[in-house]
Amino acid sequence: MAMLTEVYGKIIGIGKYTPDKVLTNYDLEKFVDTSHDWIMQRTGIFERKVVDSSLATSDIASRAALTAMERAEISPEDIDAIIVGTATPDHMFPSTACIVQEKIGACNAFAFDLNAGCTGFIYGLSVADSFIKSGKCKTCLIIGAEILSKFLNWSDRTSCVLFGDGAGAVILHKSETPGIKNIILKSNGKYADLLYMPAGGSRQPASAETVEKNLHTVHMKGKEVFKIAVNNLSFIAEKLLEKDKLEASDLDLFVPHQANKRIIDAVANKLGLAQEQIFMNIHNYGNTSAASIPIALDEAHEKGEIEKGENVLITAFGAGLTWGGALIEF
Ligand code: UT7
Repeated sequence: MAMLTEVYGKIIGIGKYTPDKVLTNYDLEKFVDTSHDWIMQRTGIFERKVVDSSLATSDIASRAALTAMERAEISPEDIDAIIVGTATPDHMFPSTACIVQEKIGACNAFAFDLNAGCTGFIYGLSVADSFIKSGKCKTCLIIGAEILSKFLNWSDRTSCVLFGDGAGAVILHKSETPGIKNIILKSNGKYADLLYMPAGGSRQPASAETVEKNLHTVHMKGKEVFKIAVNNLSFIAEKLLEKDKLEASDLDLFVPHQANKRIIDAVANKLGLAQEQIFMNIHNYGNTSAASIPIALDEAHEKGEIEKGENVLITAFGAGLTWGGALIEF
């Protein structure tokens, strides 16, 4: 009897694009009622990158994608599917993914956006992995890209100091060796109003009033999100390790969503991880939402902190609320 070979989605290329323009905490102090010390102590953020006003999400997404494609040594025609995780698309429609498709010349792909807030990259990875496992696709491009700076209320100190812009991308390819080993996705719409943009959709279309009231910006109850994140992330991280029969000490690198250093430390503590097992770049970028994990993966890879055959755990949480994690062998 013929043996069935297991099929995995394997990351064969990573890329990122982060804007050159830097906004430090000291810059913010000049026009927001905040301080560098407060931001550093409460979040671990030192600076964030912001785009020039001429750029849209598809522009930075395409740049990250082209780097990932070059490193994976694939042509645009090889891509079967493009998934863009974003909460800050170019337009309500068409999808940012279709605009990216045109920009990078991926003429054989189908393309769509996926909105799972900051968990968008992990959701996208899971969908692409399923396409590969089912035989529908061989090569998928998954991007997390956000331009949050254009959707912040710059007079709301409880949210505007936290976020930044950027894009990260991976190429996931069919492989007989692991790969994505396990992914857990969760959501709970009960918490939808903890992190949301009130206007601009069908509930409250744009009007002079919605603009005047700043309703096209991020609204967040940070404290509540913080608690839910810590509890749920450590739970799924433990589940993922358990599924793969790994101890925390077996993990080569933990690459969490970069939302708050205190959240990352709390989860890492619960798991019993050593400092050198945790990748953090929040001080340079702030929270780039769906882009944060692929940007972090790219930096970790560039710094030689992710080698072939190593086990990497990623986790994220965001608007929805959504949360999730994946255990990946590189
Ligand atoms: O990707 C998912 C996105 N969401 C998140 O990542 C949110 C997760 N939550 C957090 O990261 C934290 O809850 C925050 C960083 C948002 C807030 O930190 P916190 O330690 O929970 O602060 P807090 O909300 O309890 O506020 C403490 C104090 C308050 O003043 P009083 O009431 O004690 O006088 C705030 O008004 O800090 C004040 N505060 C600030 N002060 C200076 C809030 N924001 C600022 C600020 N600068 N930017």
